[in-house]
Amino acid sequence: MKTAETIQQMRGHSRSAKRAGKSVGFVPTMGYLHEGHLSLARAAREECGFVVMSVFVNPAQFGPGEDLERYPRDLDRDKRLAEEAGVDAIFAPAVSEMYPEGFSTFVDVDASLTRGLCGARRPGHFRGVATVVAKLFNIVEPDKSYFGQKDAQQAVVIKRMVRDLALPVTVRVMPIVREEDGLAMSSRNSYLSAEERERSLSIPRSLRRADEIITSGERSSDRVREAMLEVLAENGGVKVDYVEIVDAENLEQVDRIKDKTLIAVAAFVGGTRLIDNVILENADQGER
Ligand code: PAJ
Repeated sequence: MKTAETIQQMRGHSRSAKRAGKSVGFVPTMGYLHEGHLSLARAAREECGFVVMSVFVNPAQFGPGEDLERYPRDLDRDKRLAEEAGVDAIFAPAVSEMYPEGFSTFVDVDASLTRGLCGARRPGHFRGVATVVAKLFNIVEPDKSYFGQKDAQQAVVIKRMVRDLALPVTVRVMPIVREEDGLAMSSRNSYLSAEERERSLSIPRSLRRADEIITSGERSSDRVREAMLEVLAENGGVKVDYVEIVDAENLEQVDRIKDKTLIAVAAFVGGTRLIDNVILENADQGER
């Protein structure tokens, strides 16, 4: 596996793969890899001749008081896991490589997609995400890129950026990978104490409850939200940041649940903010 730390090295790796007739697949990450990240790498491996993964904890997407400094990092372990998953090249730049002195250009996806959900609690977050992903796309020049449904709003924002700016890359969004007990995998799960880890399970449980009552015919967003809040308050509870029921494509709130509705939760468990979601398929059938 190749490693690149500079933009020039990374471009060199991608371009020589392309000259050899290979398509380039790209998985952007902030590292501390888990099965969620690796599932993206494996999907890229299946579909592309050359697989690039970036490992970069992007300061621009962290707000003041967030966990930028203590975000978990272990590049040696990441390299090992990435190689096992079939990654051909890792791009792990320094902050100064990505944000040189005087950096002053940002990509801002409109507020209709970025002011709600996670954007409400984390102003500027999606500006940081869109900017770094656009820059990474310009460096790696991928044919296909791979994102996780875990970060549902991020996937919508990236897709919109790619469409609006006509970036020559396909965006693939892959399913959420979960621990055996249902908790969505996240690098931030490493912050949880044993007791918090237990309490965090009310998050996936609330989504399963939503799915159950919708399957049995409920279509009122208010009633689904109430049922979810009840679950989120059980067993000591978690501090709910939001429970949002929105259109999965434009992120606008919906009163009645329909096909392609996104139900998204963010909650604090102790000091750790976790997110999870589900997209409802076939909710147009069996309506009550
Ligand atoms: P990070 O949180 O490291 O996630 C990298 C990618 O892995 C994202 O596309 C995310 O949605 C996906 N992912 C994380 N947990 C997952 C899970 N349990 N199942 C499936 N996919 C999962 O998201 C970022 O980094 C950054 O914002 C980034 C896009 C790299 C820009 O800095």
